[in-house]
Amino acid sequence: MARPFPDALMALPHRRDVPFSRLTTLGVGGVCRWLFEPVSEAQAQAFVRACALEGLPWRVLGGGSNLVVLGDVAEPVLRLRLPAEPVRRGLEVSASASHGHIQLSAATAAMGLSGLEYASGIPGSVGGAMHMNAGAYGRELVDVLVRYRFLAAGGELVEKAPEPGEFGYRWSVLGAGRVALGLTVRLVEGDPARIRAQVEEYRRRRGTSQPLGRRNAGCIFKNPPGLSAGQLIDQAGLKGLRVGDAEVSPAHGNFLVNHGGATAAQFAELMARVRDRVRAVHGVELEPEVEIWQTPAPDNK
Ligand code: FAD
Ligand code: EPU
Repeated sequence: MARPFPDALMALPHRRDVPFSRLTTLGVGGVCRWLFEPVSEAQAQAFVRACALEGLPWRVLGGGSNLVVLGDVAEPVLRLRLPAEPVRRGLEVSASASHGHIQLSAATAAMGLSGLEYASGIPGSVGGAMHMNAGAYGRELVDVLVRYRFLAAGGELVEKAPEPGEFGYRWSVLGAGRVALGLTVRLVEGDPARIRAQVEEYRRRRGTSQPLGRRNAGCIFKNPPGLSAGQLIDQAGLKGLRVGDAEVSPAHGNFLVNHGGATAAQFAELMARVRDRVRAVHGVELEPEVEIWQTPAPDNK
């Protein structure tokens, strides 16, 4: 078979035909035809440059904990494998985008630094958390972020402080065409026992309100301003609604879970039914909070 991509891309570490069931927490979707896994920022830059030069659309994957993949993905997918040990300088901690978000929260807690307790139950990578501006319990990443590094659409390396308008509710400027490489957060000295107690309290709250025993992608829909999507879905009587192995969790209305064998089509159908019903009952249009990957690929140029 002819090599579908330029040599500069094919020279990078890559794997073929990896099922999304192994790349995402939800576990639906088809196959990732081309998974590129650079182990350095230079390799990541080579990936973006090569794609930009050829006008190739591409995607970037982190821990796959906020993704619903609706089929096979044929365009190159980038998953960073950067060295990931966090580095502390005073009250600031830097980490690469490949680091686990929960692990970063745990590492800073172990340093006696407070500020990332809210992240103790948010899975995925630091890069995904940057893209999503992940948050919980009234806090979000931008609250502690002091610098971030990313590759711009042409592969240019940018390092800067966050500015107003660059990070919002489950949104950031690190959208299509940009690759988050790393961040620095500024935390405060904290009492280790109090930090541990706060983390435990958040874990307890999550354990009682979210279906952590089933495959899921966190909340599926954004909370509309002033409202809770979970509550709207619950009040519409949708908990337990099932399409095949995809179900609206009886524990939390905004968690759609995969009982093991859900297909992408079943999942898409369940999401559509929930949106339709909430629109009919409440007159509210729910917007996906998860990222949905379906062909055709986004335009990264
Ligand atoms: P992925 O799912 O891999 O990707 C998500 C998006 O980020 C995609 O668009 C992808 O292209 C992009 N992306 C990934 N890496 C990069 C990168 N390096 N550069 C640029 N873009 C990138 N989220 C919350 O905010 N709060 C919660 O409380 C929360 N609770 C959750 C609980 C559970 C049980 C689960 C499964 C999920 C939860 N989530 C929550 C959702 C999810 O964990 C977060 O959105 C997380 O930050 C996504 O990170 P990821 O690495 O898995 O990203
Ligand atoms: N509620 C119901 N029924 C349900 C679910 C919730 O009545 O089925 C009610 C709760 O009783 C509560 C309110 O709705 O009064 C809010 O629920 P919850 O505290 O569970 O928070 P949420 O708004 O549903 C948000 C985030 C979560 C985050 C939690 C904790 C969104 C879409 N969701 O959930 O983030 O963990 O707050 O801060 O913003 C995610 O983004 O993936 C995610 C899980």
